Amino acid sequence: MPTRRRFVQMAPAVLAASQHSRAETDPVLRKAMESARAAIPRAAADPLRPVYHFHPPCNWNNDPNGTIFYRGWHHLFYQFNPYGSQWGHMHWGHARSRDLVNWEHLPIAIGPSEDKGENHIFSGAAILAHDGRPRIIYTSIGNRDPEQWLAAPEDDDLLVWSKSPRNPILTTAAHGSLKIEDWRDPFMFREGGETYMVCGGNTSRQRWGGAGEVQLYRAASDDLTTWKHLGRVFQYRNREVVNVECPNLFKLDGKWVLIISPERPCEYFIGSLDLKRARFEPEVFGVLDAGAAYASNISVDDKGRTILWLWGRTKNPAASGWNGVMVLPRILSIGADGYLRQQPAPEFERLRGNPVTSTDTIRGDSLELEIELTPGQAGAAGLELRRSGAAEPVSVITFSSDGYLTAGSARTLIGKSDRHKLRVFVDKSVFEVYVNDGYAALYNSMNAGSGDLSVVPFAGGTGARILSVKAWPLQPVTFNLDRFRI
Ligand code: FRU
Repeated sequence: MPTRRRFVQMAPAVLAASQHSRAETDPVLRKAMESARAAIPRAAADPLRPVYHFHPPCNWNNDPNGTIFYRGWHHLFYQFNPYGSQWGHMHWGHARSRDLVNWEHLPIAIGPSEDKGENHIFSGAAILAHDGRPRIIYTSIGNRDPEQWLAAPEDDDLLVWSKSPRNPILTTAAHGSLKIEDWRDPFMFREGGETYMVCGGNTSRQRWGGAGEVQLYRAASDDLTTWKHLGRVFQYRNREVVNVECPNLFKLDGKWVLIISPERPCEYFIGSLDLKRARFEPEVFGVLDAGAAYASNISVDDKGRTILWLWGRTKNPAASGWNGVMVLPRILSIGADGYLRQQPAPEFERLRGNPVTSTDTIRGDSLELEIELTPGQAGAAGLELRRSGAAEPVSVITFSSDGYLTAGSARTLIGKSDRHKLRVFVDKSVFEVYVNDGYAALYNSMNAGSGDLSVVPFAGGTGARILSVKAWPLQPVTFNLDRFRI
C-alpha cells in the first residue's frame, strides 16, 4: 500500500463572488483573452467553418484535454493558441455542454506561469480526487525537461484554476536511471481505490523507431500531489513508430483499452492490465481512425457512457482565422468480435431536419447521410461530396470490392461483404464516416468552395450498386460566447 499523506489544502480560495475568470487577476490570461476576443469576427465570417463540430471561438486548437463530466456538464478543455491560427503559445481553452452538442465557451482556463519558467501548457487530464472535486494534471513546458503540474478549481463551474504550490508534482527524476524523451500527456484512471496515471514518450530521443513507451504511476497522496513510478506499462516494439503521445488507458466492457497517438493515426490495443507488475498485455490491435483525427481523450458521463474525444485537423488557410475542430464525441464499446466500436453520440440526431430519399436532390454542406451499398464482385460504390456542376468532387468516399474504404486521403480495410452501411456527416469543410454500426470510424477534412453543394452517390463495375440513401439537413449547433470574456 502506498503511504498516504494527509489531504493538503490547495491555495486558499481567493475567488471573489463576482470573479468569473482567472483573467481578472492574471495578466497572462488577460492578454490571451484580449487577443482571442479580437480574433473572433474573422473566424466567424468564414463560410467554410464547421457548424456542428465543436471549435474554439477562433484561432488554433489541437488536443482535447481534461475531458470530464462534472455536476451535469461535459467539460472540454483543449490545446489553444490565443495568438494565432497556427500551433504555438499553448494554453488550455475551456467549454462546457449539457448535451454534447451545444456549447458554452468559457474563459481560457490555464496559461503559462511565465514567472515560474513555463512557456506552454501541454496536454493532460482531469479526474475527481478523493474530496470529490476535479484536479487537472498537465505537462508544463519550459526551457528545462518537461514536468507534470497540478491545478485545482476554485469554483464548481471550473472557471478559475489554481496551480498547486507543490508543482512540479512529478519530474523526470521519478524514473531513476531510465531516460525518457518527450515525456508528456498525463492521463488518469482509478482502480481498486487507487489513482493511477500514464504518460507517453520514448527512449530513443526520437532517433529511431521501436522505443515508444507508456509509463505508469500511482498516486501516493489523496490530493494527487505525490506519485510513485511503477514502471513501463507498455513498450511499443514497432520500428515504424518513434514516439507515443497522449496515451489513454481505461476499462471498457470488462477489458482494458490503451489508445495511443503515435505521430500517425491513433491506434488502440485491447487486453489485460496487471497493476502489480505494471504491465499491459495487448490481445487485440486496431487503427482507431485512419483519417485526420489525433490526440484522444476520454470521459465517462452520468449515463456510464465512455466518450472518446479527438482533435480533428483541418486544411483551411491561416487567413481564415481558425484552425482545427473536435471530432464528434464518440461512444465507445467493444464488439462481439473483440474490437472497438465507435458511434457518434446519439444526441446529434436531434439536429436532423426533414429527410430526403431521392438521390437527385441531395444538396447541402451540413448533412447526415445513411447509405447502404454493395461494391459487387469487381466494382466500387460510394459518395461524391460537395460536387459543383461538372467540376471534380471535393472529396470521395468509396467502397471497393477488395474490401477497402477510401475517404478523401485516408484508406482503411473493412472487409468483403455484399452489403455495407455507411453513416456520413458533412459539416462544411470536414466530414466523418461511420461504417457498419461503428466497426470503423473516419474523420477527414476537405477543401470545399462555398458553392459546392451537391452530394452524388455512385456505383460502377460488376455488381456494384447503391441500395438505399437517406439524407437529413443538419441544423447548426449553438456556441454561446456570453461568458468568453475577462
Ligand atoms: C499531440 C501533442 C501532445 C502535446 C500537445 C502540444 O498533438 O503533440 O503530445 O502535449 O500536442 O500541443
